[in-house]
Amino acid sequence: MAVRKKVVDLLATAPGEKVLAKGWVRTKRGNKEIAFIALNDGSTINNIQIVVDKASVPADLLAKVTTGACIAVEGDLVESPGSGQAVEIHACSIELLGECDPVRYPLQKKDTSFEYLRTVAHLRPRTNTFGAILRLRSQMAYAIHEYFHSKGFVYLHTPLITAADAEGAGNMFQVTTLPLENLPKDKKGGIDYSRDFFGRRTSLTVSGQLEGELGATALGEIYTFGPTFRAENSNTPRHLAEFWMIEPEMAFYDIKDNMDLAEDFIKSLVKYALQNCYDDVKFLNDRYDPELLGRLQGVIDTAFVRLTYSEGIKILEEAVAAGHHFEEPVSWGMDLQSEHERFLVEQHFGKPVILTDYPKDIKAFYMKQNADGKTVRAMDVLFPKIGEIIGGSEREASFEKLENRINELGMSHRTLEWYLDTRRFGSCPHSGFGLGFERLLLFVTGMQNIRDVIPFPRTPKNAEF
Ligand code: 4AD
Ligand code: MG
Repeated sequence: MAVRKKVVDLLATAPGEKVLAKGWVRTKRGNKEIAFIALNDGSTINNIQIVVDKASVPADLLAKVTTGACIAVEGDLVESPGSGQAVEIHACSIELLGECDPVRYPLQKKDTSFEYLRTVAHLRPRTNTFGAILRLRSQMAYAIHEYFHSKGFVYLHTPLITAADAEGAGNMFQVTTLPLENLPKDKKGGIDYSRDFFGRRTSLTVSGQLEGELGATALGEIYTFGPTFRAENSNTPRHLAEFWMIEPEMAFYDIKDNMDLAEDFIKSLVKYALQNCYDDVKFLNDRYDPELLGRLQGVIDTAFVRLTYSEGIKILEEAVAAGHHFEEPVSWGMDLQSEHERFLVEQHFGKPVILTDYPKDIKAFYMKQNADGKTVRAMDVLFPKIGEIIGGSEREASFEKLENRINELGMSHRTLEWYLDTRRFGSCPHSGFGLGFERLLLFVTGMQNIRDVIPFPRTPKNAEF
């Protein structure tokens, strides 16, 4: 018996071999004498065509070779006379590994909307579209590790369970083993967290940054790459309750170095997708979004625009004066909404934008304070179709200034003592940023909804599969 070859390799093999292929049937068609089976095993967007002489395979077996069924096919790899593929397999024998009831199989031609597929998210990886997206997701993860390793960054594993609210936004999922129906109380009548599993109140992390800073101020340059959890009740096409984030953190980088790294990083990843995942990107381009390939190339070829938040607000105010309508009125000090970010990127500049120096009141406590007393050295990278894809900053390196800000915001000093030690002992200028992995994938795949670029999305009221 021939050794199994993946479809991606079979399609690149010269005709003339005896081969064994295994996979799931995408379609079967044919006439009285011959059946044509399109077989896919997930190794590529492309199917291999199986040609079956009906006289050589039992009719009852062939009848069970339906869409979704799993089969093993042995046969001759021959040159294909049909257009669309170089080679095809002339089957000698077919083994049915797993039947698939054609009536009950949820992936029928008739309903393939993204909304429907989310209701069968456990099976949607079997579709061409999700095959392409999930391969891209895997390749992008690999590209991220390769990028940082080639630059000598240390991959730091930061904890998922934490007592600190890194972003200070208070949207954390609590982690507890306390009995919810009978909570232990302390003397003041509050919940006695000393009786909880960790002896304190803990949550799932919203960011690995604070621990990342511990790494950077010891190892120089680190990055984290892991799941992140936010209990923000925002049911938008760009928010997940569980998403993956990449957070590089670098000693001795100022905000300019930080911006340079962010721009180079994201361009390298897009370039990687075009070079290494072209078939999948092309498939998504041709099926859903004819401007996708152009948009990706565009990002690689253009220098990102850099301007301050205040300059951005001025442009938005001028747009309003000229008659443009925003849902959320524009004024200095506001948190920019996606409509504002996309106006700057898509309508005003026509290229990615890095906005810096935001008002301190809408940014996290750890950002370096500017001399004006009003703004901090933040940087958000804004992308076409997405809005914010990266958020980062230079960090406040002064112990006094950082401590004052923590007090000003009424944050818990106690849970941040370990973090303050980075500024107590050998503090250094440093910077970092966070790239939302799924936001990157939205850009690279051209998908419209973030639920469609993660295998098993977690959003408000949705944790099935
Ligand atoms: O801007 P954010 O909140 O920044 C931080 O968490 C910093 N600690 C990063 C750092 O400086 N090390 O989040 C960073 C990025 C956003 O730009 C966005 O791409 C993504 O994470 N993001 C989300 N992606 C999906 N769903 C959500 N709910 C997200 N919230 C943030
Ligand atoms: Mg942000």
